[in-house]
Amino acid sequence: MSVVIVDYPIILLNLKTYEQSMGQKAIDFARIAERVNEKTGISIAVAPQIIDIAAVTVSSETPVFSQHIDPVYYGKYTGHVLPEAVAEAGAYGTLLNHSECQIPLEQIEASIKRAKEVDLVTVVCVESVDMAKKVALLNPDAIAIEPPELIGSGISVSTAQPEIVSGAVEAVHTINPDVKVLCGAGITNGEDASAALDLGAKGILVASGVVKAEDPYKALLELARAMQR
Ligand code: G3P
Repeated sequence: MSVVIVDYPIILLNLKTYEQSMGQKAIDFARIAERVNEKTGISIAVAPQIIDIAAVTVSSETPVFSQHIDPVYYGKYTGHVLPEAVAEAGAYGTLLNHSECQIPLEQIEASIKRAKEVDLVTVVCVESVDMAKKVALLNPDAIAIEPPELIGSGISVSTAQPEIVSGAVEAVHTINPDVKVLCGAGITNGEDASAALDLGAKGILVASGVVKAEDPYKALLELARAMQR
């Protein structure tokens, strides 16, 4: 089995809480990602439900992101997501502040700090260029711009709102050129993925376009092929 190296451009496949992608099916998606990576060389990571992380990491070479962590420590934090537990489960990184799991700016800052302490790569989601600017100062590994109204819509941010992607790329690079910009929301086909890279994004976040596709392998392969440059 090949060792998957995470590089850019990247496809981050968010499995959310879809019925089609929990438990054993999360493992199936990670294996699909592995096959597409082997075929195209494009880095693909999956973000399963937190409870599925360990099962996915032991069953597949695909890098795994947590959907969230909390900036807590060992001790009295019932119900929180401990960064050390996520790292020990084999995760490579974590999403933070997804549009469906938003947290205050101070909590984003504290979570990035905690993620770094346990060597988790951070991808912070934002809904606007203004928020991207604020988060860029916090030095995450990547910022993903996702207009909430397009999430799950099938209408791609890269074609419906290209200016928000290029605006985020420009703003973030002016503030902190080390931070990669990804984009997501409504991405379903190769054209959407290719447009994202043309706008300066270093990758895409995608969920429903792959998870709910009739043939997820085919859908993911189309996205990856469009990102081969
Ligand atoms: O995190 C990815 C996401 O919010 C985009 O969702 O279903 O529009 O690809 P979707």
